[in-house]
Amino acid sequence: MTRSDPEQPKAELVIVSNRLPVDRVVNPDGSIDWRRSPGGLVTALEPVMRANDGAWIGWSGGTDPDLEPFVDDGLSLVPVALSSQEVEEFYEGFSNGTLWPLYHDVVAKPEFHREWWDSYVTVNRRFAEAAAETAAESATVWVHDYQMQLVPAMLREMRPDLRIGFFLHIPFPPAELFQQLPWRRQLLEGLLGADVVGFQRPGASQNFVRLVRQRVGHKTHRDMVYLPDGRTVQAGAFPISIDVEGLEQLARSEPVQQRAKEIREQLDNPKYILLGVDRLDYTKGIYARLRGYSELIAEGRLSVEDAVFVQVATPSRERVEQYRVLRDDIDRLVGRINGDLGRIGRPAISYLHSSYPREEMAALFRAADVMVVTPLRDGMNLVAKEYVACRYESDGALVLSEFAGAADELRQAFLINPYDINGMKASIMQAINADPKDLSKRMKAMRKTISEHDVKDWASSFLKVLSEARPMHHKQLRPARRT
Ligand code: ADP
Ligand code: F6P
Repeated sequence: MTRSDPEQPKAELVIVSNRLPVDRVVNPDGSIDWRRSPGGLVTALEPVMRANDGAWIGWSGGTDPDLEPFVDDGLSLVPVALSSQEVEEFYEGFSNGTLWPLYHDVVAKPEFHREWWDSYVTVNRRFAEAAAETAAESATVWVHDYQMQLVPAMLREMRPDLRIGFFLHIPFPPAELFQQLPWRRQLLEGLLGADVVGFQRPGASQNFVRLVRQRVGHKTHRDMVYLPDGRTVQAGAFPISIDVEGLEQLARSEPVQQRAKEIREQLDNPKYILLGVDRLDYTKGIYARLRGYSELIAEGRLSVEDAVFVQVATPSRERVEQYRVLRDDIDRLVGRINGDLGRIGRPAISYLHSSYPREEMAALFRAADVMVVTPLRDGMNLVAKEYVACRYESDGALVLSEFAGAADELRQAFLINPYDINGMKASIMQAINADPKDLSKRMKAMRKTISEHDVKDWASSFLKVLSEARPMHHKQLRPARRT
C-alpha cells in the first residue's frame, strides 16, 4: 500500500523525525538488513510509539528511492527518501555542519552555505508533505529535532486542521549565537507553526521566546507567543527520559547479570572499571576525558593493575569532516596512552568503536564501577540516566558534566566542569574512593528522580499540554499583562 492510497487508514498520531528507528543497511552480498538507528531520540521515542498506535515518518538512512511504508516489529514506519546530494547538503551539511555546532555552544565552527540551506528547505517540505498525507483529520503530529525545524509551519499551511507539536532534543542556543544564522527568522517562523514548542531545559525555552520577540516581533508573555492571526504558541521545558522500568528489568535479567560478570572477568577482574559510552561526537568531551584519565595513571594516582577505562564510541556522521578528524584524534590518543602506559594484557583504555545490542549495553552499565559522562554541551544525555536505571543495588558512581541537561535532575552525581581537567580528575578520584554508604545515598536519590519521571511521563506531559494548547486563541484568552 502506498502513502497516497485513499484506502490506507490514516494515523491519529504521527511522529516526524529525521531518522526512523531502524536504518536500512545493504550488505556486501546485496542483501538488506534493518538495524537500530543510533542516538537518544530513537531510544526515547521507541517505547512511546510502542505504547501508542501511530505512524513514524523518517529517513531510512540510505539513498534508495521511495520505499513503501512498512511495519517493523509492530511499528508503522513511513520512509522518506533522500538523494545522495541531499544527504550531503541537508543531513551532513546544514543539519550537522551548521545547526549541530551552532546549537552546541559553537564547540566546533559552524559553516554557512546557501545551497545547504536550500536543501534543508526542500527536504523539510518533503517531510511535511509525508506528514500531511499520513495524518488523519484533526490528528496530532509531533515533529522532532533540529533537522525538522521548518516542518511545523509548512505542515500547518498544508493541513490547518492538525494539532502540531515540536520537540528539540538538543540545546537551543542563546540569542548571541543564534543570531549568526543568516536564516534565523525563517527557522523561528518554522517553529512557530507548532502549537507547542518543547525544549529540554527552561533556559532554552526562554532563549526561544526572547528571540521570537526580538527577531520576529511577536508579542510574548512568559512562555506564550501571541501571533497576529490570533493563534498562540506555547513554549516550555519537557526534560526527556528513558524507559526506566524496561531497562532495569533487562539489567536484572539472568543473561545480562551473567554477561556483566563475564565482562569483568575478560578485563581480568580489575578493582575499578570506569566506563564512557557516547556517539563519537566532538560535543561529548571524549578527548579531554581520556587525557585526564591517562594523567591519573601517569601520575601514579591510579594504576593499570587496578583500573581500566572502557570507552565505547558509536560510529556517527562519519563523512562529516569534523567527525573524521575526531575519530583520528581519538584513535591516536588511545594508541599513545596504551603504548605509553599499558602493560601486556593490561591496557589503560579498552576502546570499542562499535554499536551493541541493548543487552550488551546493560551488561556494561552493570559491570562499571564509575560511569564518566563529560559532554561540553548536551541537550540531555540519556546514557547518564541509563547507568542510574541499571544500578538497582544502588551502588556505582556517576561523574557528570554540568553542561548536560541531565545535570539539572541528577544533582547527586559527581558534577564536573569538562573544561577543567584537574577538577575532572579530582572528581573521578573522589568517585573511585567514595564511601560505599555515600555512593548508595547518592544513587538512591538519583534512582528516585528518574523513576518518578520516565519517558512515558515525558511523552504524556508534552501531549497533554499539546491537547490543551490548540484551542487557546489569544483573541479569546488574553493575559492581564504582556511584555
Ligand atoms: P545522543 O542522542 O547525542 O547520541 P544520548 O546519550 O542522549 O546521546 O543517547 C545515546 C543513546 O545511544 C543511548 O540510549 C545509548 O545507550 C545509545 N548508545 C550509545 N552508544 C551506543 C553503542 N555503542 N551501542 C548501542 N547503543 C549505544
Ligand atoms: O538528538 C540527538 C540526535 O542528533 C538525534 O537527532 C539523532 O537521531 C541522533 O542524535 C543520532 O544522530 P544521527 O541521526 O545524525 O546519526
